[in-house]
Amino acid sequence: MQGKYKALWLDNQNNLVVLDQRFLPFEEKTVTLTNAQESIEAIKNMTVRGAGVIGNVAGFGVYLACRESGGELKKLTLLAKQIRESRPTAVNLMWAVDRMMKVARDSNAKGKALTELLLKEAIEICDEDCRRSQKIAEYGADIIEEIMRQKGLESFNILTHCNAGWLAIVDEGTALAPIYEAKRRGVDIHVWVDETRPRNQGANLTAWELSKADIKHTVIADNTGGHLMQNGMVDMVITGADRVARNGDSANKIGTYLKALSAKDNGIPFYIALPASTFDFEILDGVKEIPIEIRSEDEVKYMRGINRDGELEEFQIVQSKSPAINYGFDVTPARLITALITERGVCEANTEAISEMFEDLI
Ligand code: MRU
Repeated sequence: MQGKYKALWLDNQNNLVVLDQRFLPFEEKTVTLTNAQESIEAIKNMTVRGAGVIGNVAGFGVYLACRESGGELKKLTLLAKQIRESRPTAVNLMWAVDRMMKVARDSNAKGKALTELLLKEAIEICDEDCRRSQKIAEYGADIIEEIMRQKGLESFNILTHCNAGWLAIVDEGTALAPIYEAKRRGVDIHVWVDETRPRNQGANLTAWELSKADIKHTVIADNTGGHLMQNGMVDMVITGADRVARNGDSANKIGTYLKALSAKDNGIPFYIALPASTFDFEILDGVKEIPIEIRSEDEVKYMRGINRDGELEEFQIVQSKSPAINYGFDVTPARLITALITERGVCEANTEAISEMFEDLI
């Protein structure tokens, strides 16, 4: 496999090893996935998360499903359907399963030969993500440098929501890839990291990634961005996406929409970074049609962290008798998005521009 693949890799028996993201940043644990059911569970319980990595695990999940079914297409099809349904919003999951199953159906291979073919395809999906991430890094860093040139800035403040780095998509992510590239180019960059309640992917994962890369950052409570933008403390907002409709409406972690509104009100460029596999060209109107995952209310009512003695603990922050609701994502309308940063270049967030740039995929 190309790149560093820090979020997932193969062991010497070709099982899939993943970093258990539920315990970061406090503990670095891995989980070894040996069959379809374990892959499904890892996606559902968020051992792995982030649109790209979910797609990668789904791809390997189909290979593992093939291995456990002895390459029997009927059994494989049933397991692949379950993998496809493990989470509803990030379209990379469905995209990866469909691509793997097309290879399975189009091939004459059976048994071990089919398993090997699917292993190769799952690795190829990762390798492609790696190449896409590198292109997104370059196009995004060009934008950062251009804004700095236009505004005569010596340093750059960028705000991001959730985690769209290498824990979310191999090899350097989508929204974080341009930040890593800008740092390599010598830009003096500082990142405002939204904590991203309820699961805290920003506070737990993005901050961890950035500190490992020695990138200046500050974690902020989710409601802080508007104030920072109003006071000239943000030069650009960049997030990833879980599904982008043909009209440019973009689903991402809950709270992204509010950041986009605030950016618009303050004249701050708001970019979404994504690989082509995150487009859902069948969806014409993202706000109306993108399915939004509703997760357990416990994720709102309980928090996990370490106590002052360094022990991991889960504690309740809402009284038991109050109900909570946990929408995992929201959709930012295209009109609030300055542009989409893709591996093919920077694309306006509208049907015409998307249809032109991705004509061959529609
Ligand atoms: O619920 P999660 O952690 O899987 O949500 C992830 C996000 O919303 C990311 O921002 C998104 O996947 C973009 S990164 C490829």
